[in-house]
Amino acid sequence: MMDTATDIVRLSVNGDARDVGVPTHFTLLEALRYGLGLTGSKQGCDKGDCGACTVLVDGEPTLSCITPAFAVEGREVTTVEGLAGPAGPHPLQDEFDRNGAAQCGFCTPGILCSAAALLERVQRPGRDEIRAALSGNLCRCTGYAKIYDAVEAAAARMAPPGDAS
Ligand code: FES
Ligand code: FES
Repeated sequence: MMDTATDIVRLSVNGDARDVGVPTHFTLLEALRYGLGLTGSKQGCDKGDCGACTVLVDGEPTLSCITPAFAVEGREVTTVEGLAGPAGPHPLQDEFDRNGAAQCGFCTPGILCSAAALLERVQRPGRDEIRAALSGNLCRCTGYAKIYDAVEAAAARMAPPGDAS
């Protein structure tokens, strides 16, 4: 029998409709990690400061550790697990690898989500735009330069043919 403090939340995650039974107080991050086993989104500070838990909700970077699971019913959630496509890794994932932009990797899923949202919005962002878009994602390891390089390289790969700007 279902615990009275548990309920079913209907989520759309990475293109799939998922019903997950979670305690009513669960955050989106907890529903993803402990309800659905999607552990790519990281539980860092768990209070909205570090960005490790960033996912996309209707394409917008969202701190899943401070977002109630029930608040995203009917909206499209994309986690780092959903960034790759049938053709392979997202260009950002590829360029993080090529540029050595991940060290311990704890910040990487959140940064990839924030960067993916930026590249959906801006085809060839300048370094200041990249810095601003990732300003909510803390990294203790890389010093950020390689992360910015990787985002620029991914943007160049994703630009339409002939765009050499
Ligand atoms: Fe969500 Fe740090 S774990 S902001
Ligand atoms: Fe370790 Fe960013 S790579 S926190």
